[in-house]
Amino acid sequence: MRISFAPVILTLAVASSVYAAPAPAHLAKRGWVADKLKELVENALNTLECGACTAALVGVKDVAWLNKNWVLDALAEICPKVSKLTPEVCTGAIKLEGPALLDALLKADLLSGDAKFICYQVAGICAPPSIASGTLTFPKPKPANAVAPVSSGNLIDVLHLSDWHVDAGYIPGSEAECDQPLCCRKHSNSPAVPKRKASTWGDYKCDVPLKLGQNMMSYVPTVANVSFGILT
Ligand SMILES: *[C@@H]1O[C@H](CO)[C@@H](O)[C@H](O)[C@H]1NC(C)=O
Ligand SMILES: *[C@@H]1O[C@H](CO)[C@@H](O)[C@H](O)[C@H]1NC(C)=O
Repeated sequence: MRISFAPVILTLAVASSVYAAPAPAHLAKRGWVADKLKELVENALNTLECGACTAALVGVKDVAWLNKNWVLDALAEICPKVSKLTPEVCTGAIKLEGPALLDALLKADLLSGDAKFICYQVAGICAPPSIASGTLTFPKPKPANAVAPVSSGNLIDVLHLSDWHVDAGYIPGSEAECDQPLCCRKHSNSPAVPKRKASTWGDYKCDVPLKLGQNMMSYVPTVANVSFGILT
């Protein structure tokens, strides 16, 4: 399954308010930053628009230049408040994706269109960028008499595993009908009695339990003599 990072991006946007802080000295005061952000979250949620989103990204970038941890810490605090994600899901997502997102943001040329594009792609806030016309020059022309290689006729079996989503954290019997991006795990807000129990072999709302993944792998040799495998 695909995890939506919209809440994280939203908090990235909201963190722009840090930019409005008067001086870096104040940013070091974590409590002050957290309070300020909390206050501005509600404000940002009411006024989300293209200009606000791009300004937010510029702000986040400026703070990230000073110290990436300040942004990540702020996001981890805000995320559970502006989304229904539990603190551990927020922290996990920010820890995993935050540094890469910030690196991308630091490389982005925000004012020349990147910010609008990010806001469009991630949150659908800005208008889609217009398609620029241009001429593409290929490195060399198509060969005049291209001949396809002749097949040897020898066939091999190749195992191609795509979008592998085996979840080592899958817990049979846990809540399969949760409100988090990934269910069938123990979340801090999991009810004592699940609405639907995660079965031993998996659930449509969850990633694949280890048991199913292993069982599938042991089945493969019964249907193919695999020469090599690729995981994409
Ligand atoms: C960035 O902030 C973190 C957390 O506040 C702090 O531990 C770290 O020393 C800071 N790094 C720099 C380079 O200032
Ligand atoms: C794998 O190759 C062996 C030897 O050629 C053959 O006996 C066997 O049937 C093959 N297995 C599969 C699943 O194709």
